[in-house]
Amino acid sequence: MEALRIIKDEHRNLWRIAITLDRVLADMEAEGKVDDAFLGSVFDYLEQFVDNCHHPKEDHYLFRLLRQRSPEAAAVLDRLEADHRNAPANLEALRDRLARAAGGQLPVAELAAALRAYLAGLKEHVRVEEKEVFPLATQALSAADWQEIDAAFLDNADPAFGTQAQANFRELFHKVASLAPVSVGLGAHSAGELAAPASAPGGVLLKVEGLESSYGRIKALKGISIEVRRGETVALVGANGAGKTTFLRSLSGVQPMSGRITFDGEDISRLRADMRMRRGICQSPEGRQVFGPLSIEDNLRLGAYTQPKAQVEGDLDKIYAMFPILKEKRKLPAGTLSGGQQQMLAIGRALMGRPKLLLLDEPSMGLAPLLVEEVFNVVKTLKAQGMSIILAEQNAFSALAIADRGYVLETGSVTLTGTGRELSEDEQVRAAYLGM
Ligand SMILES: Nc1ncnc2c1ncn2[C@@H]1O[C@H](COP(=O)(O)OP(=O)(O)OP(=O)(O)O)[C@@H](O)[C@H]1O
Ligand SMILES: [Mg+2]
Repeated sequence: MEALRIIKDEHRNLWRIAITLDRVLADMEAEGKVDDAFLGSVFDYLEQFVDNCHHPKEDHYLFRLLRQRSPEAAAVLDRLEADHRNAPANLEALRDRLARAAGGQLPVAELAAALRAYLAGLKEHVRVEEKEVFPLATQALSAADWQEIDAAFLDNADPAFGTQAQANFRELFHKVASLAPVSVGLGAHSAGELAAPASAPGGVLLKVEGLESSYGRIKALKGISIEVRRGETVALVGANGAGKTTFLRSLSGVQPMSGRITFDGEDISRLRADMRMRRGICQSPEGRQVFGPLSIEDNLRLGAYTQPKAQVEGDLDKIYAMFPILKEKRKLPAGTLSGGQQQMLAIGRALMGRPKLLLLDEPSMGLAPLLVEEVFNVVKTLKAQGMSIILAEQNAFSALAIADRGYVLETGSVTLTGTGRELSEDEQVRAAYLGM
């Protein structure tokens, strides 16, 4: 049932767009202004992604077989397929309203009302699929049916939704995030390259055995053992208070601990924080903790304080290539950045230490849904460049989606481990952390 996982992922992205639009609409009405570039980018995304890919894919494979197997599905499928058929015309009508509102021929409130109605329809459609159709499909379709559907959904050569199309969708989504108002988006691109540290692939980079840590008499970590291999992204997921932050701080050496940490073949259990940083363990802390009064550039330089002076300018350029918004604002106090931009700064600051292992503590915390996506895109880029990463997140779905492996932490102990995929499909994980 890979197909269902793919559709659910797609629904989550749609939901993010919908929630973002809800917020933007409220601002738009309050200010009486239309951001036509941003809304245009959203419509482009919806047209390509929803109308040209998502809907036909559902119709051709999932719905067609479900109709054959389950007569009782006909009524709901009729409705959904009618939604699919009408979607392009609805979007066209919205584009037309947008053009007229941008040109001052239509009151902003009317455009907003039309968009709200569209979003309500979209959300209802997703709800019906998730709550009615998927459970029905899970019961009614045979293993052979699923094989056929999954094969189609996983066909990377399909021009409508294969690898090439996916790159295109990501680009469109990225454009939406970068054009979004600063309150919900980045307000600028993040892209570019950052040279990966030369390290042999494979092999264990970090081995933690029986790690314990306490606050007074309260034992926050009760003997944690985990491993990170070179080039791996490992997610550490768990609810509020599970011990994720305590664990990362124990690794970076700012939290008293016992147990054994072997990093890059060396026992670093007794090393001070700055010495661990020199070895290549760099952390982007929870809550970002950028130094508000200092300039953005000085914040970045702070991240390089353990590094030789000669490399700092070159590394700054690389960070700026990755986060152009930081370059644009480099002379300004860090406190003037939006939440999402501060998160980019915190990650950039950690990268200035030339990490061999990057520790990210809740990079998505407190960010608008679109920005969550952007931050995870940054993590994906770093991963693609070969960086080894531990990603602590309450936002378990998103973290597990990009992680190679994950550990579930509950009140100071690891309760489950597996590949990112296994964990995100584990019933216990879904029930406990994913709010399903
Ligand atoms: N400074 C502190 N003093 C006392 N107890 C603390 C302190 N910091 C954390 N704790 C306790 O340690 C446990 C683990 O907290 P920790 O912050 O590591 O969890 P977390 O998984 O990072 O949670 P969150 O998702 O909220 O960031 C919790 O029971 C918490 O109450
Ligand atoms: Mg925490």
